[in-house]
Amino acid sequence: MSETQRTAKRGEPGTRAGKHSTQRNTAGVIRRGTPSRAASGDKPKLWIVLPDIHLPNEEPTVINPLLRYLASERWDGAIILGDLMDLNVISSHNDKFPRLTQGQTFRADIDYTNEWLDGFCRTARKRNPAAKLVYLEGNHEYRVERYLDANPRLEGTMELAERLRLKERGIDWVRSWSKGEVFTLGHANFVHGDTCSVYHAAKMVKDYGANVFYGHTHDVQEYSMHRKARGVTIKGKSLGCLCKYDPEWFRGRAHRWQHAFGVFYVWPDGIFQEYTVHIQNGRFTAPTNGVVY
Ligand SMILES: [Fe+2]
Ligand SMILES: [Fe+2]
Repeated sequence: MSETQRTAKRGEPGTRAGKHSTQRNTAGVIRRGTPSRAASGDKPKLWIVLPDIHLPNEEPTVINPLLRYLASERWDGAIILGDLMDLNVISSHNDKFPRLTQGQTFRADIDYTNEWLDGFCRTARKRNPAAKLVYLEGNHEYRVERYLDANPRLEGTMELAERLRLKERGIDWVRSWSKGEVFTLGHANFVHGDTCSVYHAAKMVKDYGANVFYGHTHDVQEYSMHRKARGVTIKGKSLGCLCKYDPEWFRGRAHRWQHAFGVFYVWPDGIFQEYTVHIQNGRFTAPTNGVVY
């Protein structure tokens, strides 16, 4: 694994908080039209980040154009940011309410996700067979571990990494929710997300002390902090979601969810540029090629 692609434990100093700002916010240093050293020399890697899909509750009007975009670019990597699966069928919230999971089975969820991953891997690697794929464990994936905690005799039959054949697919499984593992690209860190507080971006960037990008909250929120002693600026940002806005358990309540995903350029020196792409009415303009999908 290269210097810019690795997993680290949460809070490990090696996450190298926010050096990216050595690009400087110092107005006037970089003149308009003057190419930077990185732009004229080293080539950045291109990554796409997909937050909270919640299969089988993905939103087709959002996922379909996104998959078309995925197929049309030469990606270096893709990150599934957690909660790829909903796993309503084993949610502890439904324990005493069997009607809420009527007709649902764990097997059906696994089959559906495997089929989805077949298409996703093919699409993500269409123009770059060596594209790296990463899957962060979210709290919904963690439902399996909770279920096994209560039903230890099923151990060995439900574990997601095996059931979804992640190793065979060449997908890195990052235990974000249960073990606090962090996936890092240059100076950008990725986790599923730890909190749903109102001002979660501020809490996340303070907790991590580094640039941190996450899902979990299903909204898009950003908070930046300038660290005077180090002369750097770091930020925390949630990247939205790609699931239906009206899951049954929501019962039509108001929310602040937003359909969006992330596109990251990451240079070999760790500097990164990030675009959060909002999808409205099933449509977005891609930041990499200006095409409307
Ligand atoms: Fe989620
Ligand atoms: Fe989550």
